[in-house]
Amino acid sequence: MAKEEKPLEYQRRIRDTKGVAQRLDLGYLNRPRLLAVARSRLTWLLVAAAVAASVPLVLGVGGSRRAIANGPVSEAHDLLAQRCEVCHDRMFKGAPDRACQGCHDGAPHPARMMDRGKANAVIACAQCHMEHRGKAALAEVASNNCTSCHADLKAHASGVTIKAVSITDFRAEKHPEFSAGTMTDARPLRLNHAIHMPAQAKTVREMKLPMKCGDCHATDRNSATGVLLPVTFEQNCKQCHARELEFDVYHLLGPNGAPAPHTKDPKTIHEFIASAYRDALAANPAMVRKPLGNDLAPASNWLERVVKDSENYLFGRKCGYCHIMAAYAVVKPVNRIAGRYVETRPEGDAWFARAEFAHRPHRAVECESCHTAARTSTRTADVLIPTMKSCLACHGKSETGLDRCSECHLYHNRTLEKDRERRPVEELTGSAQ
Ligand code: HEC
Ligand code: HEC
Ligand code: HEC
Ligand code: HEC
Ligand code: HEC
Ligand code: HEC
Ligand code: HEC
Ligand code: HEC
Ligand code: HEC
Ligand code: HEC
Repeated sequence: MAKEEKPLEYQRRIRDTKGVAQRLDLGYLNRPRLLAVARSRLTWLLVAAAVAASVPLVLGVGGSRRAIANGPVSEAHDLLAQRCEVCHDRMFKGAPDRACQGCHDGAPHPARMMDRGKANAVIACAQCHMEHRGKAALAEVASNNCTSCHADLKAHASGVTIKAVSITDFRAEKHPEFSAGTMTDARPLRLNHAIHMPAQAKTVREMKLPMKCGDCHATDRNSATGVLLPVTFEQNCKQCHARELEFDVYHLLGPNGAPAPHTKDPKTIHEFIASAYRDALAANPAMVRKPLGNDLAPASNWLERVVKDSENYLFGRKCGYCHIMAAYAVVKPVNRIAGRYVETRPEGDAWFARAEFAHRPHRAVECESCHTAARTSTRTADVLIPTMKSCLACHGKSETGLDRCSECHLYHNRTLEKDRERRPVEELTGSAQ
């Protein structure tokens, strides 16, 4: 594997305007910038004169500033529709980057990587964010703005570290295969997907199969992007596998003996087992005369031995049904079952380090259409993350926005954005004056 630095920690994209607004410096409008102000006033005298002169020429409408623009400003900038000067400090010269940067950071590219100095060609904000193009959203950036560099990355940047240096489209051969396929799933938990989802319905010891994906992978209803809840023993396994925590090796507790709790702490389990037998003994003192295992004579240290043998049975024989054990009574860290397993990071990593994905916009699609191998997978080690092929039916050949690079990729590195101050709307629209 190439020597790449770890991708930055970063907040996944959620398409809400609240997030956008937070990053705006609305105070920019009121900041004293004497030169700029003087210049824009002067400009506006000239513009006003020009507008006044052109009124009869332009569609017969009144002196609206819109009349001389080559189209209305974009929807997102509607509230600036009458404030041309915030973008144009000199009329008819487009809008310089610094005008945009008065309100937006426009943080550098790449979105998720390490050495940001490497994208050395500077592109004007307005080249990607088309203004005066009717209602089209500003952030719908055309792919040719990306392939201008990515078709031949080395010609446009120095010290490139990513493998794919020529990407021209989201199609086979023109865009790299996702890296998840080359990864491993090393979670030390035995999970046989196939056994839980047989093609023919069947009942095993009152357990009804097949299960559905959603029985283990439920969607978090509070998540705007449709994040899946982590799989847990309590929520997703216990109802069928509680018997795997039964420890009563000598059948002393009878049908009322509860299985051990599923906990991280072997001491708690020890306490639970010891007190279960203490209680049973208190209720039935004659129990101490019961022979244990193959020993015919009752043991002198009866209670101690019952507890110890039960513990050995549980930790030695039962936990291993699901867990890979690191040592006696110690299971290897399984971590939160969500995302990609990394032993040292309990919260896991994203399977895509360099692209976005959200389940919610795809909720009409059957799980197996993308996770084609899940139903037949018998080992945890199988990686079930989709390959590019699963996306191509909809992304890449529809000739719609779904094909755009920016549908799946961020451009700006948001970890470098400033937390801007917020201002009243009157200041922004100028309506207080
Ligand atoms: C949010 C920023 C913004 C606002 C507000 C804005 N413009 Fe623009 N304007 C731009 C950008 C960016 C361009 C360059 C567009 C391009 O190159 O396609 C532009 C281009 C133009 C052009 C063509 C100039 C050229 O060099 O091609 C005119 C004319 C124009 N704007 C007039 C106006 C008028 C009049 C207003 C006020 C009603 C206005 N604009 C408000 C951002 C803005
Ligand atoms: C006076 C402040 C101001 C200036 C100057 C300004 N913007 Fe904006 N911009 C805004 C506001 C306000 C929004 C709307 C935020 C929201 O949706 O809540 C916005 C939204 C956007 C969005 C998000 C659009 C979307 O659909 O999510 C983009 C992209 C953007 N601006 C780019 C630019 C560019 C490029 C320029 C320079 C040509 C520019 N802006 C100049 C205030 C400004
Ligand atoms: C090569 C194309 C490109 C250039 C150049 C570019 N942007 Fe963007 N910008 C994007 C794309 C793609 C998105 C949507 C994905 C994202 O948010 O990273 C975006 C999103 C934005 C947004 C909305 C962000 C949000 O948080 O929702 C703003 C604001 C913005 N850009 C401002 C700027 C400014 C200011 C500049 C100039 C300094 C600039 N951009 C230069 C491609 C570009
Ligand atoms: C000015 C040239 C340039 C442009 C334009 C450009 N990129 Fe990049 N891009 C780079 C460079 C350089 C890297 C980093 C390569 C490295 O360090 O190995 C990169 C890295 C990336 C990466 C991998 C890292 C990450 O951020 O996740 C993605 C994905 C990416 N670009 C997508 C895009 C998209 C989408 C656009 C258009 C909106 C775009 N690029 C436009 C030069 C560019
Ligand atoms: C009995 C509960 C259960 C059912 C039913 C189940 N899963 Fe899983 N799944 C798990 C557990 C536990 C893990 C974590 C262990 C692992 O990494 O394999 C997991 C991991 C995964 C992963 C990520 C790990 C990887 O290796 O790629 C995907 C994707 C996945 N399941 C998809 C599905 C799909 C799709 C279905 C339905 C066809 C499904 N699962 C049904 C329990 C289940
Ligand atoms: C609806 C009941 C049900 C649920 C819930 C359930 N399982 Fe199972 N599981 C079964 C059945 C039935 C078998 C097959 C047992 C047999 O044939 O003896 C099985 C077998 C297994 C096996 C043995 C696999 C093998 O290869 O022999 C493991 C390990 C396992 N399950 C783990 C889990 C985990 C982990 C969970 C929770 C994420 C879970 N199961 C949830 C019913 C369930
Ligand atoms: C039926 C399968 C199953 C059995 C049997 C089982 N576990 Fe688990 N265990 C899980 C699952 C699934 C998780 C991960 C989700 C969670 O924390 O509930 C887990 C997590 C754990 C964790 C947390 C590990 C971490 O990364 O923090 C510990 C500790 C643990 N189990 C101990 C045990 C012990 C001790 C036993 C035997 C007494 C046992 N488990 C038996 C399924 C099982
Ligand atoms: C449109 C394709 C698609 C569909 C449909 C889909 N997934 Fe995924 N899923 C993905 C991709 C891509 C990833 C990896 C990227 C990521 O994790 O963000 C993923 C990741 C996962 C993961 C592992 C990461 C995690 O969040 O825990 C699980 C588990 C999973 N999917 C289960 C499901 C289940 C269950 C369904 C059906 C309810 C489903 N997926 C439907 C594409 C899809
Ligand atoms: C059945 C068609 C279909 C398939 C297959 C599909 N997508 Fe999508 N995808 C869509 C549609 C439609 C949207 C737009 C939904 C919207 O805007 O609300 C979308 C949106 C997205 C988005 C933007 C999500 C957002 O936050 O708005 C990403 C990223 C994405 N898809 C990635 C993928 C990946 C990766 C795959 C393959 C694993 C894939 N899609 C497979 C139809 C599909
Ligand atoms: C349907 C979603 C989708 C579309 C559309 C898309 N990509 Fe990707 N792209 C991905 C995924 C998923 C990855 C794999 C990310 C990972 O493995 O971390 C990726 C990886 C990349 C990488 C990183 C390559 C590497 O060597 O690490 C770059 C650069 C990139 N894409 C650029 C582009 C460009 C440029 C476009 C537009 C021509 C584009 N992508 C269109 C989903 C998409």
